[in-house]
Amino acid sequence: PTILVLAGGLSHERDVSLRSGRRVGQALRSRGLDVIEADVDSSLVARLAGASNLVVFPLLHGEAGEDGSLREVLDLLGVPFVGSAGPASRVAFDKSIATTVAAEAGIDTPAQVALPHEIFRELGAQALVSALGDQLGFPMMVKPSRGGSALGASKVSRPEELPAAMVGAFAYGQVAVVERFVTGTEVTVAVVDRGTGPKALPVVEIRPDSGVYDYTARYTAGETRFICPAELPTEIAERCAETALRVHDVFGLSDLSRTDLIVDPDGVPTFLEVNVAPGMTETSSVPLAIEAAGWSLGKMCADLVRAAAA
Ligand code: DAL
Ligand code: MG
Repeated sequence: PTILVLAGGLSHERDVSLRSGRRVGQALRSRGLDVIEADVDSSLVARLAGASNLVVFPLLHGEAGEDGSLREVLDLLGVPFVGSAGPASRVAFDKSIATTVAAEAGIDTPAQVALPHEIFRELGAQALVSALGDQLGFPMMVKPSRGGSALGASKVSRPEELPAAMVGAFAYGQVAVVERFVTGTEVTVAVVDRGTGPKALPVVEIRPDSGVYDYTARYTAGETRFICPAELPTEIAERCAETALRVHDVFGLSDLSRTDLIVDPDGVPTFLEVNVAPGMTETSSVPLAIEAAGWSLGKMCADLVRAAAA
């Protein structure tokens, strides 16, 4: 088949997506496969509807690509694609929903409050600072509920920092999540299923030089050290892998996912989020984990395409 790598789009993660798309496109071409790369615009649906023998590899981060809407369109058009179905992606993408789903499945999650912008406007920043401070304590993390790449996310150590952090998160969407900050080791675990059942890739430990894994630390070469396999006791690394596999299963995900966790000082992996379109850039962790597993990115992506087309 021809592989259509979809990248770009109109979310805040457009640049990241273009980088992911280029890298996966190159990796697939290196396997001798027929690849076209396309951005998302109004011509896309007509193009897809008229196509035959096409498999889509969606590498759109953020809204449309990751929130399930585009995947539902692909489904309607009967175009096979790599990755999770629309409804599962929708649940995984929204952090306030995903945290609830994970917690109900018995996975450790940080105490969290979902805060719609209307409530923020109605109650005002000061009332929320005291209510959230009482409920969650400091430090806390504030993030847009539907976002990615740490855009609009900030760590809040003191009450007076909270109003600006909430405003920052609302710049990216109508709902913010405010959660208790979990101290510990930041790790991420990819799960792949190349048609033979989900397998966890080696755990990647993330050590940003600045101490904060923000947008700059994510996408500037040399700003973050990725340690793979993570320097964790075997038993704890296994616990992380089991958690990622459990998340993949509970959320009903397909083909590829990446679960981000914090291993707390007791060795308990705490769920932060799960990504159905994890970054595939030169500084992203999934390609690194694929290589640490002894595979190549091209081979793995080709296997995913083959499984999606079958
Ligand atoms: N949202 C970015 C692309 C990631 O999770 O890798
Ligand atoms: Mg994410």
